[in-house]
Amino acid sequence: MPTIKINDVELSVTPGTLVLDACRTVGIDIPHYCYHPALSPVATCRMCLVEIKGQPKLATSCTTTVPPAPKDNPDAVVMEVFTNTPAVADARAGVMEFLLINHPLDCPICDQAGECKLQDYSYHYGSGDSRMAEVKRRYRYEDLGAKIVIDKNRCIHCTRCVRFTREISGGGELTVASRGSHLEVTTFTGKSMDQNPFAGNVVDLCPVGALTSRDFRFRKRVWYLKSVPSISRHSALGNPIWIDHEGNQIHRLRPRPLAGKETTHFISDAERQAYPRYNRTGKAPLPTLKGTPAPLEAIREALQAAGPVAVIGQGTFGCDAAQRLGELASTADLRFGSGDKTIPVVLPKYQTSDDGILNRRGFTERGFRFGVLEELLGKVQQGEVRAVVLLHDEAFTSPKESALLTQIIQAASFSLALEAQSSDLGRSATAWLPTTSYAEESDFIVNHDGELRRYQKALQPPKGVRPVTAWAKDLAAVPAAV
Ligand code: SF4
Ligand code: FES
Repeated sequence: MPTIKINDVELSVTPGTLVLDACRTVGIDIPHYCYHPALSPVATCRMCLVEIKGQPKLATSCTTTVPPAPKDNPDAVVMEVFTNTPAVADARAGVMEFLLINHPLDCPICDQAGECKLQDYSYHYGSGDSRMAEVKRRYRYEDLGAKIVIDKNRCIHCTRCVRFTREISGGGELTVASRGSHLEVTTFTGKSMDQNPFAGNVVDLCPVGALTSRDFRFRKRVWYLKSVPSISRHSALGNPIWIDHEGNQIHRLRPRPLAGKETTHFISDAERQAYPRYNRTGKAPLPTLKGTPAPLEAIREALQAAGPVAVIGQGTFGCDAAQRLGELASTADLRFGSGDKTIPVVLPKYQTSDDGILNRRGFTERGFRFGVLEELLGKVQQGEVRAVVLLHDEAFTSPKESALLTQIIQAASFSLALEAQSSDLGRSATAWLPTTSYAEESDFIVNHDGELRRYQKALQPPKGVRPVTAWAKDLAAVPAAV
């Protein structure tokens, strides 16, 4: 592997590595706007300039790659990069001055404040003064459909958003129009971004506050939010996301890109908008037996007295929940999997499965069998199984499967549903226990690609609402033999 020197620190890197990435590996963060690992390089912002020994001008580190080493000297130093010279500092300050020529000083009312690259880089690399005496250009903000709002005054023309709609989502709704100081990012006439199921990503991509989300706009200052690493239950692969929350309420979901994993940079709008169902309102639900509040002991006794127990676990829950739930089954072959939601594959490169039951693998590894609920119905009708414990979330079950589950529950002499939010199906069970939602617990899944993905607790559950593992542990006194 060739060796390069970055500010006199030597490191070996694969030929073809971007200088910007090589700098990161030694802990040097190169400021950048137009560069994005999932988009084609355009080198338009000029913020990432570095000095390279032997080159007459500064070079853009987002497009300069490390050359291969000579064959007769594989360990040779092939490049010497400097990121802290006066020329580099001068270039960065100059770029910042240009970018701020037309940028308004409206940080106090801008949604991006607190996570704005223009603010950060201006502080670190800018001059603090402006020589701009002319009036700044002005636009009114525009709606790009119901999901996205653009404020062109703030745009720095990095074209990340334009490249996203062309290279990733494919609709090409955005374009750059006009020239010089009239340059503006806009949609082709009459085209909104509403038809784009991945439109929300342009808000994350925008390094300044030009593109904002209609849903999140003006709702929270970002410095009040706490970010917890989690996964999306609404993607086939359990996409890694950040849950941004405050006051025990989720305010937004954002992608959480994993290093070297290009498929984790973007999430769909459906995933992004799924958070309101995890925000609880009203009173905490209580355990019930035959429709009336009851202590756990009464439910456990009723379950014990019923006879052989089968469990039905929906494959959208975590592996710890699957493990504990499985231990409630009287025999190993009485663990059944449920969930038949599918997710249309819109971007095949980013979504390799249409199976919406994201932890099907984790449940299967713990002895749950999917697609055989009719077998369980037969066993219940013949009296081989007397009691059924159901772990369920109605958002991931089709009406057809719900009808089959209802038949199973009605045929069993005792049924217990574990749910975060009660559904018609759950209410039809003999007993019901309130469980934490996935945002209120920590667990992990094994997705369809066999990758283990963990999620952490973001919200505090109400008193009396417990994880499946805790309920199952307390119910585990049920006799195991058939
Ligand atoms: S709107 Fe944002 S992402 Fe798009 S070009 Fe302008 S600054 Fe870049
Ligand atoms: S990040 Fe390299 S030129 Fe914009």
